[in-house]
Parts: sequence; structure tokens; C-alpha cells
Amino acid sequence: MTEIANQKKKKILLVNGPNLNLLGEREPTIYGSTTLAQIETQLRQQAQAVGYDLEAFQSNHEGAILDYVQGQRQAVCGIIINPGALTHYSIALRDCLAALENVPVIEVHLSNIYAREAFRHHSLIAPVVRGQISGLGPLGYGLALEALLEFVK
Ligand code: DQA
Repeated sequence: MTEIANQKKKKILLVNGPNLNLLGEREPTIYGSTTLAQIETQLRQQAQAVGYDLEAFQSNHEGAILDYVQGQRQAVCGIIINPGALTHYSIALRDCLAALENVPVIEVHLSNIYAREAFRHHSLIAPVVRGQISGLGPLGYGLALEALLEFVK
């Protein structure tokens, strides 16, 4: 896929990993009260306002996420991903994201993973993405989209 062809695509993916379907009820003192549906709606509107389509996908299954990202790889111009716990152990997800060509990826975490348990301090994903936002709550997704739009326009 050439850089020029890539620039013509207007589709952005929002991918959320395990347990993020429970946002709003899951450990609200850490993850807040905003639901995933609210985050997806907000991001879709933010993308549409500047002429991009945003497709949202969430799964609790590593393989389903790999299949989805692989299946979309030719069709998208950028990806925002909160891999949940996969962040800390999924070499398969890291390899999947590393295999993307000319598709900037931004990693988002609602909580500040560096201020939590030691096992959360390491991201296998971070070295293969364009950037990471951690600790800004739902705002992080909107900021990731803003950054992504700068990279893809
Ligand atoms: C998370 C942080 C991860 O450590 C955790 O496993 C999650 C959510 C976050 O958004 O802060 O599921 O990615």
C-alpha cells in the first residue's frame, strides 16, 4: 500500500481489549463511570465532524482482535487501541500491530499504568506504536484521535 493510497482512506478503528466492555461498572475508582458505548459514540462523532468514519470493536478474545485488525489492515488509515491486559503479555498482538504498513497506531490506557502494580508498568505494545496515552481517562481516546488525524491528513 503506497503512502498516497493510504492517505485517501477515511476509516479509523477504535479497538478495545478484554474487560473494557465493562467500563462504567468495572472498578469505577480506577476506570471511571463512562461506559464504552459513550466513548465510542463520542469518538465516532469527533471523527465524523472532520470527515472520517470510525469503526469500533471490542473483544475479550486475543485471537478475535488479531483477526479483526488483520482483516481491516488494508482498509484503514489509523488505529486507536486500548489492549487492556493484552498490553502486558500479548506478543501476538504486538506482532500483529508491527506488521501493519503505513497505519499509525495509538495506544490508550484510561488509568496511568505506570502508577499501578509493577506488572502493568511494561507494555509490549508501546515499542511498535506511534505513541501512547496513559492516565487521562476517557479524554485519552479523544486526544488520541486528534493526534491520529494530524498524522493521517
Ligand atoms: C487498561 C490498563 C490495563 O493494565 C488493564 O489490564 C486494563 C485497562 C487501562 O485502560 O487503564 O484492562 O488498559
